[in-house]
Amino acid sequence: MPSTLKNWRIPIGKTRYNQTVFCNFNKVHHWKVAGATGSGKTEFLRYLVTYMCMKYSPDDVQFAIVDLKNGVSFAQFQWFPHVRGVYKTVPEAVSAIHAAHETMVERLQEVERLRAVFQPEPVYPRLIVLIDEGGELAPANAVLDEDKELRKAAMHLLSSVVRIGREPRVNIIYGTQRPDNDTLPVSIRGQMEGVFCFRTENELDSKIVLRHEGAEKLPWIPGRYLYKSPLVKYDIEVQSPYIPDKVLRRIIQPLIRCESQRTATQQSDAMCTDNQMADGDDGIGLETREKRRRWGRSE
Ligand SMILES: Nc1ncnc2c1ncn2[C@@H]1O[C@H](COP(=O)(O)OP(=O)(O)OP(=O)(O)O)[C@@H](O)[C@H]1O
Ligand SMILES: [Mg+2]
Repeated sequence: MPSTLKNWRIPIGKTRYNQTVFCNFNKVHHWKVAGATGSGKTEFLRYLVTYMCMKYSPDDVQFAIVDLKNGVSFAQFQWFPHVRGVYKTVPEAVSAIHAAHETMVERLQEVERLRAVFQPEPVYPRLIVLIDEGGELAPANAVLDEDKELRKAAMHLLSSVVRIGREPRVNIIYGTQRPDNDTLPVSIRGQMEGVFCFRTENELDSKIVLRHEGAEKLPWIPGRYLYKSPLVKYDIEVQSPYIPDKVLRRIIQPLIRCESQRTATQQSDAMCTDNQMADGDDGIGLETREKRRRWGRSE
């Protein structure tokens, strides 16, 4: 089934009355995740990635994960074949956002070309750029001038993706403690229609995230948040799902075994090929070849 027709309603937790709440990525494309330290943002993001990797194939969804807590929260996620990479520094993050932006532009150009000749458009895999600790990308947090320029470039690219990423299926999920003007410019914030607002430090922070108070009064339970979306009339109080490390390990360990077996097989294949090759090696490493194969790029 083409992935546009697939059900993109993702369960995001339960209400006090035990009703499951869903968000729909086919209808809302860019999301903010905010709240005080320890409120459960990262765990929620980890759940979202895990759920989608379990439910969909890499032909349906791919992730570029930016984890600016030095990659500690998402290190294991690199093993999912859906994950293009886990980027843990600001320069890495900027190149990942740049690559996502390029993908978006290429897709738009292709669609334009196909529409001009009345050809059917391909169904692109949804590309989700998931950013945790997005505050680190704020130009205001730069120490050196060149760092500031890098961060400004990231904001510029993000702003372009949130404006025109809907049709080419490039989505942003942006997690930060407090998305104020310094951390997330209004041009980006305003385009992110979906909000997961965990408990905030105070009323002002709640107003910054939700445009009204209330998130500061949420019970101090990790994973409790207010869900706001153009598709729901009122904000809904939700308890997010939680995937303990033990469960995550059970999901990911077979992927690690699979990958190491494949690498071993490829290495022995490559040794055979290397022996047959005279001096025709193009210098592209195994890892790069494998990634290109996985992401369908030609060499
Ligand atoms: N839904 C949940 N159910 C149960 N426990 C949770 C849930 N979400 C988070 N926790 C617990 O709360 C702790 C803190 O959560 P998390 O690291 O996601 O916070 P955070 O908002 O990302 O904080 P920071 O802004 O400092 O990164 C987790 O280590 C976990 O033990
Ligand atoms: Mg966190």
